[in-house]
Amino acid sequence: MKSEWPSRIPTHIAFIMDGNGRWAKKRLMPRSYGHKVGVETMRRIALDVFDAGISYMSVYAFSTENKARPQEEVDGLFHLIRTRLEELMADIIARGARVVFMGDLQYFPQDIQEILQRVKEKSAAGRSGTLNIGLNYGARDEILRAAAQCVQAGDATPEAFAKRLYTADIPDPDLIVRTGGEKRLSNFMLYQAAYSELFFSDTLWPDFDTAELKALLTEYAKRNRRYGKV
Ligand code: FPP
Repeated sequence: MKSEWPSRIPTHIAFIMDGNGRWAKKRLMPRSYGHKVGVETMRRIALDVFDAGISYMSVYAFSTENKARPQEEVDGLFHLIRTRLEELMADIIARGARVVFMGDLQYFPQDIQEILQRVKEKSAAGRSGTLNIGLNYGARDEILRAAAQCVQAGDATPEAFAKRLYTADIPDPDLIVRTGGEKRLSNFMLYQAAYSELFFSDTLWPDFDTAELKALLTEYAKRNRRYGKV
């Protein structure tokens, strides 16, 4: 119910979903178990976010740097995409939201690229929200790619640049939330984060819940955003 949520709701919330590995380790389980539960949290929180009336949610699911993790963990993430992603996204799609991906998707095996394409196409008509999932995403990579395209096009205006980012049709995040206790952006949406409000939580991502989302949206509603002005 919308009335349960604070009144000054952002347009776009982004999450750095950190802490899956530690969450699993605390339970003497492999790190990939943490990702398995983490992806369920992603679905749960996306449904909450759209329920609150927030139009866009971005998540950092797999970074350009995550590729260097032990093969077993990378394989675990691939396995999750292969076995769970379509089913999990069905709930999001049923909610009337669309699912898009940002990152260099060419890196993924063909069957995974096809899954991502199917999810994107199936949800394309969704109008009640956008879930933007970063996969093989890195902000420096995104910025360099956009800059190279601008040079090639001979058009380096801010508008031309923004149009070449993965987030071309998505507004900048109003707030970026990082769970898991670390206080850094780790190459996530660096260009788009220029005026984002930052929130850091010690909660490990699999434990992140509706109550904590409400608490931080309540705090967000109190922040005075000046965008460099007075
Ligand atoms: C950071 O926690 C999290 C990741 C590197 C991946 C996040 C992935 C998911 C939530 C699920 C995958 C999503 C899709 C769409 C397949 P960490 O593993 O670095 O945790 P740690 O800091 O405790 O080690």
